[in-house]
Amino acid sequence: MAKTLITAALPYVNSYIHLGHLAGAYLPADMYARFLRLTGREVLFVCGSDEHGVAITISAEKEKTTPQAIIDKYHPMNEQAFAGFGMSFDIYSRTSLPTHHDTAKEFFKDWLNKGLLIEKEEPQFFDETANMFLPDRYVEGICPNCKKDGARGDQCDSCGATYEQTALISPKSVISGKSPIVKSTKHWYFKMGEFQDQLEEYIESHSKDWKDHVLQQSRSWLKQGLNDRAATRDMKWGIQVPVDGADGKVIYVWFEAVLGYISATKHWAQNNGLDEHAWKDWWSDPKGEDRNYVAFLGKDNIVFHTLIFPMLLMSKGEMILPQYVPANEFLNFEGKKFSKSKNWGIFLRDYQQDFPGESNADILRYALATNLPETKDSDFTWKDFQARNNNELAAIFGNFINRVVVLTNKYYEGVIPESTVDLNDAYEPLRKLVKELTDNLDAFSFKSASNAFIEIASYGNIFFQEKEPWKLWKEDPD
Ligand code: MF3
Ligand code: ZN
Repeated sequence: MAKTLITAALPYVNSYIHLGHLAGAYLPADMYARFLRLTGREVLFVCGSDEHGVAITISAEKEKTTPQAIIDKYHPMNEQAFAGFGMSFDIYSRTSLPTHHDTAKEFFKDWLNKGLLIEKEEPQFFDETANMFLPDRYVEGICPNCKKDGARGDQCDSCGATYEQTALISPKSVISGKSPIVKSTKHWYFKMGEFQDQLEEYIESHSKDWKDHVLQQSRSWLKQGLNDRAATRDMKWGIQVPVDGADGKVIYVWFEAVLGYISATKHWAQNNGLDEHAWKDWWSDPKGEDRNYVAFLGKDNIVFHTLIFPMLLMSKGEMILPQYVPANEFLNFEGKKFSKSKNWGIFLRDYQQDFPGESNADILRYALATNLPETKDSDFTWKDFQARNNNELAAIFGNFINRVVVLTNKYYEGVIPESTVDLNDAYEPLRKLVKELTDNLDAFSFKSASNAFIEIASYGNIFFQEKEPWKLWKEDPD
């Protein structure tokens, strides 16, 4: 039986979902899932909270509480907000669940057994005041690549570069604000180099069908050559490294969060009373039965889904890989980047408080869908939102539906008559539009599909006005 697995990036559960998240990953994923289900395909649509990593522990420190309290606060809120927005997930899981911890540990042990991890002592930043190592977002400085400020220990958000954290220029601890010292510590490094050729082959096999920015980012990593990469961190919060004597070390969040899609599938199977191997039917295809996997995400997550996750799936063997990774660019708000720290943007829950209910959710879905940042950043403005609602949904689409209902009542006693006129012949502009659309339709251009929807309604209105089709039907000799 043909099956498509759809995943949407697991959002860090340290804050509320905002409109940028929706436009980047979640709305397109949901449109795709709904579309495939309508065509009769079997779909499993998987998501959940990413509950580990420094994003969570820093939020806990800022809110003067524990990581556990943070995830328990935001997980249900995000789950509810998504439900109110009409997301049709089959499962909304959590990476703090035992199923996920077990899955991640199993993978880690498998990497150890296969000789894919090596232990190394390497220098890392250490905050003497706070008495702790400073993984990832705990340290900020100037990017060694683009020289911009605000780069993090694991990645620069400005240019996308990744580097050893000790390469940061003028590093500062996010905890104490002081310059850290350098101290050596033991970690397990994943030998990514072993997958260089396989990954190159995988990426190039999609050189024709993937978006440019997805290919570019993936190729630029490959071009630098894949090196050993630390798969563990000095932290208490997270999934313990399953090795004796590894206390205080957890698996690096990116090496376990992506496995969360698998754990979530197991969670879904448990919820549905299926046996413990049922998840595999979505993740492998031993009999060549037309299995697809499409991974939706924002552009800051690309290489983790085109290189790291595929590498982990390859390491396991017999798993299917993402066939399409339709990463979107960013949605801005009134000309500026969404930013939690600058308090700029719109949280979904705030929208839902001001505009409650299902039809308001649909208005937002429509306003976002017609303005998706598919090939470049786009901008959400309240003016545009208002215009989409008033001029398009209310005026064009509302009018169209209203006419259909009124005219059907007036001329046909409320029952839509069987047409004896081919609408395509009757109205040339509509025929042209539909042809243009079907000729050029890219299955993953949700934005043009959404815009086509309103265009068709608008032609429908003109058709009513100019052709008065009820007269045509009435005059038909039948
Ligand atoms: N938590 C990450 C973010 O919000 C996304 C993780 S995707 C996953 O940017 F696959 F790793 F879960
Ligand atoms: Zn940079």
